[in-house]
Amino acid sequence: MNKHFQIRVAEDGDARACHDIYGSYVDDLIVTFTIDNPSVEEYLAKIRNTKKLYPFYVAEDTEGRIFGYCCGEPLRPHDAYKWNVEWTIVLAPDCPRRQGVGSALFKQFERTLKAQGFQYIYAVIVDTNEPSLAFHKSLGFSEVGHFMNAGIKQGQWLGIKWLSKFIGTTGSANVHDPIPFERLLEANSSTIQCNGATECD
Ligand SMILES: CC(C)(COP(=O)(O)OP(=O)(O)OC[C@H]1O[C@@H](n2cnc3c(N)ncnc32)[C@H](O)[C@@H]1OP(=O)(O)O)[C@@H](O)C(=O)NCCC(=O)NCCS
Repeated sequence: MNKHFQIRVAEDGDARACHDIYGSYVDDLIVTFTIDNPSVEEYLAKIRNTKKLYPFYVAEDTEGRIFGYCCGEPLRPHDAYKWNVEWTIVLAPDCPRRQGVGSALFKQFERTLKAQGFQYIYAVIVDTNEPSLAFHKSLGFSEVGHFMNAGIKQGQWLGIKWLSKFIGTTGSANVHDPIPFERLLEANSSTIQCNGATECD
C-alpha cells in the first residue's frame, strides 16, 4: 500500500477481498470470536444487505487493492435499538499500522452515521486486543461493559469489552428514524480521496 488511497463504498466485487482480509484473523484469539470464515458468497450477501441501512466502506490503494474495510450492523434485533450501530473494522495483516488508515475509515464511517441520524456507535472487542482498545479510545469511545468468559475459542475462555461513542446531536427522544444508507447514497458521492490517511476529502 502506498500513502495515496481512497475510501469508497463497498461493491459486489469486493466480497473476495473482504473474505480474505477477515479470514486472515479467524485463527487469532485476539481479533475475533469467529471460528469459521464465511464463504465469499456470504460476504457478497453481507455487503448487499448491510448497505441497505448501514455504511460499508473499503480502503483501496492506487493499484486497486483492497487493504481494509469497515461496516455496520444492528446492535440488537429489537426495533427500539435502531439508533445504535455496532461497527467492525479490519485492516489486512500487511497494511502498515499507526499510519492513520483505521482513523480515516472511522472518520468517514462516523460522518456518514451522523448524516443518517444514528445516535451511538458500539464496538465489541476481545478484552485482550490492546491495539484495538487503544485505537477506539483514541477515537473517543469509552468502555461501557466487560463480559468475562463470554465464549470459548480453541479451548480457551475469552472475554469481551463493549465500547461506545455518542454521535447524536441531542439527548431528546424526539429524533427521526435513521435514513437508510442506500437512500443517502443516491444523493452523495461514494468516494473519498486520501493523501497520507489524514488528509481526506
Ligand atoms: C485496530 C486497527 C483497525 C487500528 O488501525 P490503524 O490504522 O493502525 O490505527 P491508526 O493509525 O488510525 O491509529 C490511531 C490511534 O489509535 C491508537 N492506536 C492504534 N494502534 C495502536 C497500538 N497498537 N497500540 C497503542 N495505540 C494504538 C493510537 O493512539 C493511534 O494514534 P498514534 O499512532 O498517532 O499514536 C488495526 O490495528 C487492525 O485492523 N487490527 C487488526 C484487526 C482488529 O483488531 N480489528 C478490530 C477488531 S475489534
